[in-house]
Amino acid sequence: MSNPFQILPGENSRSEALTGGCDKPARENAARTFFIETFGCQMNVHDSEKVAGVMMSRGYRAAEDVDSADIIFYNTCSIREKAAQKVFSRLGQLKKQRHARLPVIGVLGCVAQQEGDAIFEQAPHVSLVCGSASYSKLPALLEELESGSRRVTGLSLATDECFETELTRRDNRFRAYVTIIEGCDKRCSFCVVPETRGPERSRASAALLAECRRLADEGFTEIQLLGQTVNSWRDPSPARLTFAELLSRVAEIPGVRRVRFTTSHPRDFTPDIVQAIDAYPALCNHVHLPAQSGSSAVLARMGRTYSREAYLEKIGCIRSAKRDISISTDIIVGFCGETIEDFEETLSLLDEVGYDQVFSFKYSPRPKTAAGGWEDSVDDAEKSRRLAVLQERQRQIQLRRNEAKVGRVFEVLVEGFHARLGQAVGRTPENYIVNFPGVPEWTGQYEAVWVTAAGPNSLVGERAGAA
Ligand code: SAH
Ligand code: F3S
Repeated sequence: MSNPFQILPGENSRSEALTGGCDKPARENAARTFFIETFGCQMNVHDSEKVAGVMMSRGYRAAEDVDSADIIFYNTCSIREKAAQKVFSRLGQLKKQRHARLPVIGVLGCVAQQEGDAIFEQAPHVSLVCGSASYSKLPALLEELESGSRRVTGLSLATDECFETELTRRDNRFRAYVTIIEGCDKRCSFCVVPETRGPERSRASAALLAECRRLADEGFTEIQLLGQTVNSWRDPSPARLTFAELLSRVAEIPGVRRVRFTTSHPRDFTPDIVQAIDAYPALCNHVHLPAQSGSSAVLARMGRTYSREAYLEKIGCIRSAKRDISISTDIIVGFCGETIEDFEETLSLLDEVGYDQVFSFKYSPRPKTAAGGWEDSVDDAEKSRRLAVLQERQRQIQLRRNEAKVGRVFEVLVEGFHARLGQAVGRTPENYIVNFPGVPEWTGQYEAVWVTAAGPNSLVGERAGAA
């Protein structure tokens, strides 16, 4: 496995000059290398960029691969049981592998926060456990290990600490993630996030805008604003910008061609967000609005704070925009007490909305959540059946929607290149994936692409010119 931080020598050299967190001179760590494997969502991917930044600012280097690393971090996800188990199977494999010298093994992220010290019992070769709110303390924790401590933890969810974002070591040269709000206070009955990421805390608008301007100056053209409930962001500073105003301000920054934001909670999704998308071409015409279920009875048990009707009103607002806004969602099947009729309502929601993309999951009971103590009434085989039915229904919807795009021209930001196929791959502002014949040099560029064919999950096209 290669290192996800493929940072070329000399790139981002700004971070190397920075120090922070502890007193040890950076050069003393120069020989020490680290490797991060990331599981889960964009928040975790971005957290790994922050961890890499903290480590590099202290003189640690990214290892070529996992086998040669002095320090291995697993940045974990615990949203569903299977995701949480992945890290323990990875730790098991690692124990069997032969390393030239024994690496320091650290478990970071949501499993770390949730399981805490108990990880040491299950995996005795782990010596560091650290949750996402404590990453700036990582160098100090590593020093404690070097000074002889056998096991160290950073599990405080203290809300007053603000991450030093200057250190972030971004893994992509044209798209930058920017966290605007940490944690979540919504407490949906199925969800472990409030437990693993702590309470909601928003960053001040001036600091966020300064960071976005700096990123644009560094050449990033796409900014993705992140938060578990990104549109619940509230400006804690006297400027008191609304979320829609923040979006507009980011979209106005010279050099920023695309602004995305994820994930929106339906409760806080207000018409001014749609108005901002209409007013600012740089705001991508795509909204990810997790519904979770199409049944109001299930939504009430989930604690989602909206009914099917209220959700559909938000969809109506998005559909009334002047621009054609694509919509994606998350759905859970087989939640506690979900009847066949409830499930049918979810299928009819898919038909009624006509989503461009659906991320669907079987309900997985999680510890320390309200629903974790309820009867998991739908058995696994039935959950699998419902998931397959839902995915097939959505596949047909997507195929129909995608076929209607044949013959149109879209602006595509090229994100990569399949050497074997000679194909460039990128995304439109609507978040549609497009493959088209190209060259590796186009990566990071904006191209106009004419769509010639469509599948359920992506489009095929030909370059029409530079966008
Ligand atoms: N607001 C967050 C939600 C995080 S979890 C966001 O950024 O998307 C992502 C999705 O995982 C949720 O929308 C939900 O559909 C799914 N999920 C969360 N908890 C789950 C559970 N216990 N079982 C199955 N799916 C779950
Ligand atoms: Fe989870 Fe609900 Fe928050 S899904 S992240 S508790 S909005």
